Amino acid sequence: MQPIISVKRLTKTYASGFHALKGIDLDIHRGDIFALLGPNGAGKTTLINIICGIVNPSEGSVTADGHDVVRDYRAARSRIGLVPQELSTDAFETVWDTVSFSRGIFGKAPHPAHIEKVLRDLSLWDKRNSRIRELSGGMKRRVMIAKALSHEPSILFLDEPTAGVDVELRRDMWKMVRGLRDSGVTIILTTHYIEEAEEMADRIGVINKGEIILVEDKSVLMQKLGKKQLKLHLQHPLSRIPEELAGRELALAADGNELIYTFDAQSEQTGIADLLRQLGEHGIDFKDLQSSQSSLEDIFVNLVRAQP
Ligand SMILES: Nc1ncnc2c1ncn2[C@@H]1O[C@H](COP(=O)(O)OP(=O)(O)OP(=O)(O)O)[C@@H](O)[C@H]1O
Ligand SMILES: [Mg+2]
Repeated sequence: MQPIISVKRLTKTYASGFHALKGIDLDIHRGDIFALLGPNGAGKTTLINIICGIVNPSEGSVTADGHDVVRDYRAARSRIGLVPQELSTDAFETVWDTVSFSRGIFGKAPHPAHIEKVLRDLSLWDKRNSRIRELSGGMKRRVMIAKALSHEPSILFLDEPTAGVDVELRRDMWKMVRGLRDSGVTIILTTHYIEEAEEMADRIGVINKGEIILVEDKSVLMQKLGKKQLKLHLQHPLSRIPEELAGRELALAADGNELIYTFDAQSEQTGIADLLRQLGEHGIDFKDLQSSQSSLEDIFVNLVRAQP
């Protein structure tokens, strides 16, 4: 299937001369929840704003649902809902008016029943006649989401939707996001809460200093996550792994001073007891042992740190 968003050799140099994006290639699959992770200043918002037609690209191209976001801006934009990182709403408008008006901007005919559903889903129905300035911060964020959904987009961008949001709204939001995904909407989100990405995303992309450094299905990452390692610091270095131990997930490190055993943390039988017994039988002594498990956070931190 054709990707719903296709980014090709995209660069962005701001007027200041700063290279915010350096040749991004990225495909996003239809119907996925895609999490874009990266440290502050990595280029996440720049990339999202270019896809949404708010920022002009310097080079390269982007299509959204088959429409070029520059040449065919209106068609592309009408398919996209954006909840921006920075909250901005018309303080004096009512919730109902502001959300209904948003729909009109995209050239869609009025559809009060849809607006009502969106407001109810976001627990804003009771506040429909309130002016935006009378709402709390969390409610304002809900209004931003309602605006983004007002024109029934098939692609929804959430740029840090849970920054400064309480636990309850966060849970409601993820429930809503799952519901939207189930109805066929593709969702692209950024977050600094990596455990959220771990829980929600179908695919994960990591961006650092304007470059995409990893794109992977979460299930593939989870397999790596599910791995645990046992590191044995040997009494005497080994030059190779003894034949009797072949067939196990073993590796030698630190000039033969460490034996590293990788196993599936989820399985009932880790094989550790067997391994230790076999080592004893072959006279391989160790002075210390350590076990560790990598999380998405570890992978993320290491990836970002390893990049020059
Ligand atoms: N209008 C602008 N003019 C010049 N430089 C900019 C502009 N907007 C962003 N930048 C720079 O581009 C880089 C990427 O910014 P961007 O907002 O895309 O990062 P981000 O990944 O969204 O970060 P955060 O996690 O803090 O939201 C930063 O170094 C930023 O200072
Ligand atoms: Mg940002």
